[in-house]
Amino acid sequence: MADNRPIGIFDSGLGGLTVVREIIKILPNEDLVYLGDTARVPYGTRSKETIIKFSFEDAEFLLTKNVKCIIIACNTASSVAASVLKKELDVPVFDVIGPALRDARMISGNGKIGMIGTRATVASGAYKDTFGIACPLLVPFIEEGEINSGALELVVKNYLKGFEKTKIKALILGCTHYPIIEELIRRVIGGGIKLVNPEKSVSIATKKYLIEHKMLSDKQGQGRRTYFVTDLTDRFKSVAEMFLGHSINGYLKKVIIG
Ligand code: DGL
Repeated sequence: MADNRPIGIFDSGLGGLTVVREIIKILPNEDLVYLGDTARVPYGTRSKETIIKFSFEDAEFLLTKNVKCIIIACNTASSVAASVLKKELDVPVFDVIGPALRDARMISGNGKIGMIGTRATVASGAYKDTFGIACPLLVPFIEEGEINSGALELVVKNYLKGFEKTKIKALILGCTHYPIIEELIRRVIGGGIKLVNPEKSVSIATKKYLIEHKMLSDKQGQGRRTYFVTDLTDRFKSVAEMFLGHSINGYLKKVIIG
């Protein structure tokens, strides 16, 4: 048995392409439909009600594309809206939180776990039993491509100082954007603290589910990739490539939702 419908993935913007990158790596034959709500990014500074409303609209758009499941790539949407979406939607919904927490517990040997993310993610408490620090300045730095600047290093040092006395064994990179500066974070946090990348965790969890439920595609060759965005700016190409790690090849279209 096989299911040849596409996998749906949504994010508040283009950061979720870090999940697309992982899915392409481990499930290359699958068709993918990505929605980046670039007209309304960021979600991380918004209220719970707004994040839930936007996340619903994103998921409903993906359902019109006949997706077999939905991955919420965005940590903020995962933290605030996943439980509602899982209850209301008729397809399996995967969020980044559960898989990342499981991986963090494993690699920390049940030691203390730190987490960094947007204000909304940290405030939600969804990353249970972690010591969370909101790092709201990191998203704009990364979106601007300022990933090698001394200013960013100072900002990262300042945020991570908060972990100095916590004795954490693992740190969850609880935002789509942070894997882009993983090396900088690793260097600054030091001390043998292991980093957990939720993009990888959710991709592996999704693959496992699709195998167990006989929902993998049996199409041969590279899957078809379709990208929708709610706003298309001149910087789209360079920002998308930064998150995806290669140039976008697939169908790209601007859509209006909500
Ligand atoms: N995608 C968001 C996250 O992972 C970061 C950007 C935003 O605030 O919308 O939390």
